[in-house]
Formats: sequence, structure tokens, C-alpha cells
Amino acid sequence: MSVLMNQLKEAAAFIGSKVNQKANIGIVLGSGLGNLSKEIKVEISIPYSEIPHFPVSTVEGHGGSLLFGELSGKKVWVMSGRFHFYEGYTPHQVTFPVRVMHLLGVKTLFLSNAAGGVNTDFNVGDLMVITDHISLFVVNPLLGKNEEELGTRFPDMSEPYSKALIAKAMQIAAENQIELKKGVYTGVTGPTFETRAEYKMIHALGGDAVGMSTVQENIVAVHCGMKVFATSVITDLGIREEENVITHEEVLEAATAAEPKLTLLFKELIRSL
Ligand code: HPA
Repeated sequence: MSVLMNQLKEAAAFIGSKVNQKANIGIVLGSGLGNLSKEIKVEISIPYSEIPHFPVSTVEGHGGSLLFGELSGKKVWVMSGRFHFYEGYTPHQVTFPVRVMHLLGVKTLFLSNAAGGVNTDFNVGDLMVITDHISLFVVNPLLGKNEEELGTRFPDMSEPYSKALIAKAMQIAAENQIELKKGVYTGVTGPTFETRAEYKMIHALGGDAVGMSTVQENIVAVHCGMKVFATSVITDLGIREEENVITHEEVLEAATAAEPKLTLLFKELIRSL
């Protein structure tokens, strides 16, 4: 067995020894979006630092625990705090927890992130359902020897985000008077925000939003056969007239302000599963 598979199995076995229940839903909370975890009836919280081979989260605004609990009557695994490529983790480390969730039985993965809007119809605070993504120089986490136990060498990427879940989300949003945008997420490595020319390029390429996470996690999830639902909170506008600059504080603030909409959407979508 490969070193990676061994590590994944050790991590899953450790977690399995603490929680003897199953959950087939996994949730990853993005920057400034950790409050959803307050809605969860947490049964156990395992600090990442205790889990064998788990990377440890370093970014401000991110927690660092794997939670197991109940949301909308369903058992869920929640990553409160995620790992980013820009922190210096390898693509294998960034995606390690998603693969562990797969070994623990997760079949549907919910991802959230903060992103810059490049669609001129978007405003700060909008919620965007990700319908597709463009990977812009993000290192593919499946490079290298394929882990046949996890999935196929050449995964199909024609439906990286579940169409059925997107349709359900649009319906839930309409029923709850939440304005939900739809769009293409462009993944970049960061940690710099984009230059004005880059935001324009991303818009020209067909992106609606741009961010520094999600793509690698999505790829490993699709590889191992999970269904994925993902949303971006638009925290700043790359395409804009004003001369203002973008700061991490502004991103976290906007994410937190938009969070109640995201929480409601995730809760109702999970209830409907
Ligand atoms: N660019 C990249 N990542 C981001 C942005 C952005 O404008 N906003 C929040 N995350």
C-alpha cells in the first residue's frame, strides 16, 4: 500500500475509534464562515493536531477541528478550518481530510468559501452557487501515481458540482426569499489577491468569482465518487471602478455578514437529502 493510503487509513481508523457512528455528509467551512458549526449539535470535536497525519491550520479566521454531530436531523462531519495550498501545504495535504471523510463513508460534500466577484452583476455579500470551476494554475492533487483504491486515473469532470443539488438549492433559496447567484468559480493559488488585469482576465475567461480554495478539494472528491455542492460568499469585487484596495479583514467581515444566508441554505439542503 502507498504511504498516502496508509496515512489516510491510520487517520480514518483513529477517528473511527473515537466515533462509532456513521455520517454520509461532509462539510468544509471557509474563511469567516465558521459560524455554521454553532448550528450543529456537536457530539465530538477532534482537534486536527490530535489526528495522525492531519495538517494543522494556520490562517486567521479558521478554526482547526473535525466535528461530528447533527445538523437538520442528519449526522455530519464538519471541517471547521481548512488547509490552503498558499499556506505551504502540498496538494495531498490540502485534500487529505476530504479523502479521510471518504474513508469514513461521506458521499456528499458541502464546500463553502469566500471569493472575489468578477461578474459585473455581483455585489459584496452575494451568495453564489458554484456550477463549475476553472482551475487557474492550481496544482492538480491527482498528479503522480493514481490511488486505484480511491478512483480512476482519468476522472470525468463534466459534472464537478451536482446538478441535482444545485436545482434543489435554487428551489430552497426561492422558498426562503434568498437571492442566490449561480456561477463559475475560478481557483487560483493566492496568497496575493489579483491585480486589476488578472480580475479582468478571469472575467474574460468565463469566471464569475475567484478564490484560493475549493478546486483541489473538489477534484479529490469527484475522484473518489462523492457528490459536491459548493457556494461562494462574494466578499469583494475585483472588477470595480473605485480605487479601493482589498484586505483580508474586509473579506472576513463580508463573509461573516453573509453567513446567515449560507447557513440557512446548507441547513435546508441537508434536511432535504
Ligand atoms: N481573490 C482571490 N481570493 C479571494 C478573493 C479575491 O478577490 N476574495 C476572497 N478570496
